[in-house]
Amino acid sequence: MRQLAAILPLFISWPILAAEPDILIADFEGPDYGDWQATGEAFGPGPARGTLPNQMEVSGFEGKGLVNSFYRGDGTTGTLTSPPIKIERKYINFLLGGGMHPGKTCINLLIDGQAVRTATGPNDKPGGTERLDWHSWDVSDLAGKAALIQIVDEQTGGWGHINVDHIVQSNRRSGVVETVRDLEIDREYLNFCFAPGQAGRTQISLQIDGKPVRQAVGQGRPKASALSWDVSQLKGRRVQLRVAELPAPDGTCPLGASVRLSDQPEGVLIVVDRLYQETYRPQFHFTPAKNWTNDPNGLVYYAGEYHLFFQHNPTGINWGNMTWGHAVSPDLVHWQQLDHAIHPDGLGTIFSGSAVVDHQNTAGFQTGSEKPIVCIYTSAGNPFTQSIAYSNDRGRTWTKYDKNPVLKHIAGSNRDPKVIWHEPAKKWVMALYLDQNDYALFGSPNLKEWTRLCDVSMPGSGECPDFFSIAVDGQEQQVKWLFWGANGNYRLGTFDGTKFQPETEPIKSLWGGNDYAAQTYSDIPGADGRRIQISWMAGGKYPDMPFNQQMSFPRELTLRTTPEGPRLHMLPVREIESLRGRKHAWTDLKLRPGENPLSALEGELWDIGAEFALGKDQVAAIVLDVRGEPVRYDVKAAALHCLGRSAPLAAQDGRIKLRVLVDRTSIEIFANDGLVTMCSCFLPDPADRSLRLTAEGGEATAVSLTLYELTSAWR
Ligand code: FRU
Repeated sequence: MRQLAAILPLFISWPILAAEPDILIADFEGPDYGDWQATGEAFGPGPARGTLPNQMEVSGFEGKGLVNSFYRGDGTTGTLTSPPIKIERKYINFLLGGGMHPGKTCINLLIDGQAVRTATGPNDKPGGTERLDWHSWDVSDLAGKAALIQIVDEQTGGWGHINVDHIVQSNRRSGVVETVRDLEIDREYLNFCFAPGQAGRTQISLQIDGKPVRQAVGQGRPKASALSWDVSQLKGRRVQLRVAELPAPDGTCPLGASVRLSDQPEGVLIVVDRLYQETYRPQFHFTPAKNWTNDPNGLVYYAGEYHLFFQHNPTGINWGNMTWGHAVSPDLVHWQQLDHAIHPDGLGTIFSGSAVVDHQNTAGFQTGSEKPIVCIYTSAGNPFTQSIAYSNDRGRTWTKYDKNPVLKHIAGSNRDPKVIWHEPAKKWVMALYLDQNDYALFGSPNLKEWTRLCDVSMPGSGECPDFFSIAVDGQEQQVKWLFWGANGNYRLGTFDGTKFQPETEPIKSLWGGNDYAAQTYSDIPGADGRRIQISWMAGGKYPDMPFNQQMSFPRELTLRTTPEGPRLHMLPVREIESLRGRKHAWTDLKLRPGENPLSALEGELWDIGAEFALGKDQVAAIVLDVRGEPVRYDVKAAALHCLGRSAPLAAQDGRIKLRVLVDRTSIEIFANDGLVTMCSCFLPDPADRSLRLTAEGGEATAVSLTLYELTSAWR
């Protein structure tokens, strides 16, 4: 018999009495900063009208203007200080976004010149958003005092800016309200519901002895999202229920009010404890079993195994304690995670780098019959230097070189060495990120002693270089050298063993929202000859999961002639075919507005290939909806859109081609044979497994359309 839900009187909301009206300190709606004093350049001549050039979309501010210190990019610094104010309410509330650099990108409340309150933005790594969220300072103990508000941007480089808006004195807190309550689990399920639009800092967690055992984050969906945790294993235990959310305009807290223990799941059940089957676990993209990962490192092939090292936090779900995690695969699809390879030491934590097979034992590390694999990485201490470690047993155990570092500090936070063997000059060549947009190449006979060869500038890029030769249209006589920055911009040129001579400005290759710090494999056998790349799908969200972040699916790079010159093309490696299950195929399928030939299909994992003829009928758009998320080709604008990003995509002879890989939390699009790559993370509603393909404003034809159901690589 269905038992009645036990409705817990967990969070009783009450109307907040705000007898005194709010006092606006600044809303930054005017043409200039008025009585506020600016120093330096970062704050520009006046409030920004939203997003600044080259900035990700800024959202969450009120009205039209805000303080945005991304003026002329992250390189500028300065301060912005209010006229004196008197503290007359319990709280100072404001909207805040941008970089998390305490003391460097922050907003301070100054009394007698001292910062008595401070707050920073939420971001210190790639992958964050430019959204402003509410903050509140409780200033009840400072009533009647004279104060100044100072907004500081003293940070250059990544997230070196701060965004602030709508500063107000109030007796009501506008920031996130956190409520904590002890609870005994006496039912099988805990049900809760994110109200429409609840996102970001809206969180619910269950903790035992201070450790989270369940955790979920609001996703800001337009519809309410009812979810359930199976808590049967916690039955009889006392747990702490923590809910953090922004109160609704009427002062109520809808998430807290929705929490119920029950013997039935009343929403979509979130699977948390079956490793690699969890609700948001990618099924054919690499994720570590647990904790945070970012860049792929040390991609190298040796003796039948593809090695994938990765930036890993062994102890935390967020970035930190950087250590090289390690996994191997026979086919780039099925991965086995091994022990950590390289751990932090006195020289620092272990940042990104590469790996090579030292076939000729140039470093002298070889002890047995196996060739040594050598990893070249950044020791992220003070200062950052470059070090090496080697393995003589196919990567199972690692020894650090006893005379590390092999390359001393050169500039800034120099890092991310990518090493290749240059056969004509018979030497190792290292591409290294220096500072700002500057990189350099170094040469070495033995991986231990390095000399600077030349400098490389990559306007618009930083971090994680890659450097390799690649044949144009597969013609070995026609080779270009390609220099790559972490954001996927590349320059083509020549390299004579000493100097890289660029022949192009940086060319953009990655158009999606989550694609960063890619590198290509070393030592792919000549008979294979592919240039294979994996990137970090930076910034995806994985609520309630034991891991955080995922890698891209491995892709093959080719350089092909286009009317603009040779351009990089990317396509998923053919090994994906081993996961293909049922095939659904059509040729010459008419697409008409309002019709959906895919309405009978449903699923989570897809490999989709299609060629569309746009026809003469002025079709406005072709739309492929994946679990409610549109992949849209806008014919007039010749642009492809997906998950908030757009890419130019010109039809060729009136046709466009799409290849789309869909995993539980990602959509990777390779358009026109991979000329346009758009890889983005998404967080579909677990209950929505639909597919929809349609034309808008006219008819089009799917000249060919093939959908393969994919199986999981983890089973
Ligand atoms: C890129 C990066 C690298 C650095 C690593 C640290 O995402 O910032 O420059 O080596 O991550 O985890």
